[in-house]
Amino acid sequence: MGTARKRSASRRTKHGESVKILLSGARIQKKIRELANEIRRDFPGEPLHLVGVLKGAVFFLSDLARQIPGEVSFDFIAVSSYGKETESSGQVKLTRDLDANIEGKTVIVVEDILDTGLTLQYLLRVFEQRKPKRLRVAVLLDKEERRIAPVRADYVGFKIPNAFVVGFGLDYAERYRNLPYVGTLSLGAGKKEERAQE
Ligand code: IMP
Ligand code: MG
Repeated sequence: MGTARKRSASRRTKHGESVKILLSGARIQKKIRELANEIRRDFPGEPLHLVGVLKGAVFFLSDLARQIPGEVSFDFIAVSSYGKETESSGQVKLTRDLDANIEGKTVIVVEDILDTGLTLQYLLRVFEQRKPKRLRVAVLLDKEERRIAPVRADYVGFKIPNAFVVGFGLDYAERYRNLPYVGTLSLGAGKKEERAQE
């Protein structure tokens, strides 16, 4: 089977949903290597402190951390946005704080996806109060057209269209995080249309 064919393949799951590959694992890994080098170039010789937003950012952070040369430490924070489905409500709550103080550190917030920007806006406010030396943001995915809050990321893996995506840490009702690629999710209602395209 050719690569092109494989990329456009839909994987149907037992929940009646299907996932269509948007970004292959290889493309993601290549991009992460590029981002890691860019980050190190921007802060040569400086210890970097990565702060991952649980749970979506775990794979992005773990791959990114291993690709950045030199001194790197990391920590995790968790937030909940009061919504379990494909739409977040916009209200953000801190559910797990960092282990260590970030004062005086060069901090890079690592997020899976920038959507409305409300989560990141909240986190940046929290982190700024803690007086880091510098505060930067790295996101694997950016859905620019969905933005509500005026925030931007310094390092963006891929700009993607407005579709609900899963995989590489991103979930739908806690499922699909373990996919080694990013794909667009179609729920039951979208199934017919997708079949017609196949
Ligand atoms: P924001 O606050 O709207 O920017 O949303 C940020 C969070 O919503 C992300 O960290 C994800 O957890 C979740 N999210 C937004 N879009 C998607 C998506 O397409 N798939 C899975 N989770 C998403
Ligand atoms: Mg997240």
